[in-house]
Amino acid sequence: MSNSYKLLVLPGDGIGPEVMNEVVKIAKGIEEIGGVQFNIEKDDIGGAAYDRYGTPLSEETLEKAKNSHAILLGAVGGEKWDNLDFSLKPEQGLLRIRKELDLFANLRPALCFKSMVESSSLKAELVSGLDIMIVRELTGGIYFGEPRGIQEQGDGSRVGINTQSYNTEEIRRVARIAFELASKRDNRVTSCEKSNVMESGILWREEVTHVHKNEFQSVQLSHMYADNCAMQLVRNPKQFDVIVTDNLFGDILSDEAAMLTGSLGMLPSASLGAVDSKNFRKSLYEPVHGSAPDISGKGIANPIASILSFAMCLKYSFNMDKESDLLNKSVNDVLSSGFKTADLMGDNNKNLSTVEMGDQILNQLRNNFKL
Ligand code: IPM
Ligand code: MN
Repeated sequence: MSNSYKLLVLPGDGIGPEVMNEVVKIAKGIEEIGGVQFNIEKDDIGGAAYDRYGTPLSEETLEKAKNSHAILLGAVGGEKWDNLDFSLKPEQGLLRIRKELDLFANLRPALCFKSMVESSSLKAELVSGLDIMIVRELTGGIYFGEPRGIQEQGDGSRVGINTQSYNTEEIRRVARIAFELASKRDNRVTSCEKSNVMESGILWREEVTHVHKNEFQSVQLSHMYADNCAMQLVRNPKQFDVIVTDNLFGDILSDEAAMLTGSLGMLPSASLGAVDSKNFRKSLYEPVHGSAPDISGKGIANPIASILSFAMCLKYSFNMDKESDLLNKSVNDVLSSGFKTADLMGDNNKNLSTVEMGDQILNQLRNNFKL
């Protein structure tokens, strides 16, 4: 069967396994309606991988990841592993898989569903209809720059060092992704850096401008300092279409944007590599929220960010736009009928568990398919 895809599921830690169970359920539903077959393999990453293999990402798991059509990841991290050596911490598994697969473009859409307008901490009129795409550079910058470390000074004091560094191609390739996305949306890109204080920010601005001038003149480009962007996101978020920014600013700005949509439990993400000669691109999909240890094991985590991440997978990895739209619509429909999980501050009587939310979305998906 040609429409058969290898999916590697890495549930990870905390609420990761709980929400990923719901994604697997949805994937089975998509198999029924989409005429595809997903060969799903599960493995560990993060703390769970450390417990099993003694490393947050084993070589075997990495090999499997390289040989999959797409990777679906839950979350990593938790108190249990707080005292491990830095190189063994759960987060290192995630950073390594991003880096090894060269998943340089992290797409984080912040979309405010109609039914969620009241859950946002901002006034309804500011977020209603909100649709922003944050493109975060994911394999460079201060997350990976050298030199790094903690140096003893010999006098009892220490210095902690990290390096923000970007080269031409790292900036240009992520800028291209942002312009391409914008051209299919509202055709506007805002590039964010701190060129007022950082040389890497000056280079960022120049290279984004270069790509714009040479390849994407029809897209509207503006530049903004990242701190101003943080402020504008809460002042008037609807002014943005696509935001492109570096690894660290993107990490922070996407958490901020997530909250505009009502809950961090709603925000999906896609991490994409370059398209190869066979027209294939490596890809990993994960919710923006973390492992949420405070609610893990209680069965109340919101699976929507993970399910929407799978919707992104259908679109960006398998060109199943129709099924992807159907899944997005199903999530919206379920929320519109008043069903919420605890994080969405809905009517408590109607709060669903993780499993119930997955079931509702699956049912709705089946119904919407029949329509
Ligand atoms: C994210 C997370 C990760 C990051 C952590 C868990 C390493 O916060 O994906 O946003 O900082 O990139
Ligand atoms: Mn983050």
